[in-house]
Amino acid sequence: MTSVKKILCIGAGYVGGPTMAMIASKCPRHRVTVVDIDPERIAAWNSDELPIYEPGLDQLIAAARGRNLFFSTDIEAGIRENDIIFVSVNTPTKAFGLGAGMAADLQYWEKTARQILAFSESSKIVIEKSTLPVKTALAMERILNSCANGVLFDVLSNPEFLAEGTAVRDLKQPDRILIGSRETERGLKARETLTEIYANWVPREKIITSNIWSSELSKLVANAFLAQRISSINAVSALCEKAEADVTEVARAVGMDSRIGAKFLNASIGFGGSCFKKDILNLVYLCRNYGLEEVADYWESVVKINDYQQERFIRNMLGAMFNTLAGKRICLWGFAFKANTSDTRESPAIFVTRRLLEERAEVVVSDPKALKNARMVLAGAAGRVSYVEDPVRAAEGCHAIALLTEWDLYRHLDLRKIFETMEKPAFIFDGRNILDHRRCFDIGFNVYPLGKPPLTHF
Ligand code: NAD
Ligand code: UGA
Repeated sequence: MTSVKKILCIGAGYVGGPTMAMIASKCPRHRVTVVDIDPERIAAWNSDELPIYEPGLDQLIAAARGRNLFFSTDIEAGIRENDIIFVSVNTPTKAFGLGAGMAADLQYWEKTARQILAFSESSKIVIEKSTLPVKTALAMERILNSCANGVLFDVLSNPEFLAEGTAVRDLKQPDRILIGSRETERGLKARETLTEIYANWVPREKIITSNIWSSELSKLVANAFLAQRISSINAVSALCEKAEADVTEVARAVGMDSRIGAKFLNASIGFGGSCFKKDILNLVYLCRNYGLEEVADYWESVVKINDYQQERFIRNMLGAMFNTLAGKRICLWGFAFKANTSDTRESPAIFVTRRLLEERAEVVVSDPKALKNARMVLAGAAGRVSYVEDPVRAAEGCHAIALLTEWDLYRHLDLRKIFETMEKPAFIFDGRNILDHRRCFDIGFNVYPLGKPPLTHF
């Protein structure tokens, strides 16, 4: 039987909260504490209204909180009292100085390293959970081992691959767990300690190990590959619109090749979320730093196509609506960057709203879970944007609906009733291709799917 482990996670965000809840749930003998500098976030984790919406998370937290899962702002005590420390703080794109707009901003990361050093009274395993540039573990080691006081630190890389909206399922049944370590006796021992924790519920063959730099790089590359697939199909969607082909049919035919696979081939208004763009830019910055200009340009094109796809969506709207949106009411169905999350970070809906406002349209935002975040993100546009949770009411009196998030509820609405309450001619721009386009057209809408010929009454 394994000994009781005292586990800390620094950073109670989208990764830290759910990941630690899963460890606490699957390892009831271990004690798990999650700390954060943000007292409001910690208060929310300790309340009935969790700071993030994630299907299945409420139950997971309710079962473990207060038993072997604790949320606290006492970072100093957390570091002192625990032996295994996950670091899951944010690593956004740097907004200032050298590498601005490209490199990872490592200030939060470095601060935690210094806190761990300052408050540790015994040796620790420190685990990179955040997504980081390759070789960050070296910097971590250098900071942690800068005091000759007998306290030793082993740094591991254990990137997280969960996706929002399916985090609980992804954590429960991960495709793989990756643990990178130094290949020294101590490094391998630390690696085994972490493996034992995951082995409580993840089959051993799914727990893979590597050298620490491969592990750090694998995370960036995995996200780059996923985003690349989306940019590839989005690029094809533009071609389909010109060539009268249908992107869904093309994706199906291509994806049935088992070497290619069917997943992540849904054309969209572009990928959003806090990570794809920042991680690719991080990869691009790394490549440029190593003098690999061609490699950097290759990966940067994935982001360029994503920007292009979002702008293309607005231009299509403008073109379809007689080249003016001024004074028109446009209803957005969905503001979250994907379905089943309240997260709006880097959501294409932010870009679409900003561009619609530039065109002097009025925007009505609707979303079942993300309106609170939408209000915060769009705070500067007060008065020009309204928020209506019910999608049917949101569309009332509008000239067009732009479907931006693939929430399941949008598939089951009474479109005839909605059509009747809208200004005519009424338009639907389906940025996710989830509606029944023929039915929308038959009701009377002018329908603009992505990567398919439009269905119009003109
Ligand atoms: P987040 O912003 O939701 O959470 C990070 C938390 O860290 C915040 O609550 C912040 O207050 C806290 N924090 C910052 N500095 C701190 C400090 N010094 N001490 C204590 N707390 C501190 O971010 P996230 O979405 O959870 O992402 C965290 C990391 O995980 C990022 O590197 C991200 O790239 C990576 N990641 C995210 C996802 C995802 O789906 N969101 C998935 C895989 C990997
Ligand atoms: C993504 C990865 O899927 C995770 O493995 C990774 O851990 C995570 O980033 C991270 O590092 O943060 P996430 O961003 O939460 O997860 O969600 P995805 O399902 O990957 O969707 C990302 C964006 O791509 C969304 O805007 C989604 O709508 C879009 N998308 C996805 C498409 O446009 N088409 C698709 O076929 C799939």
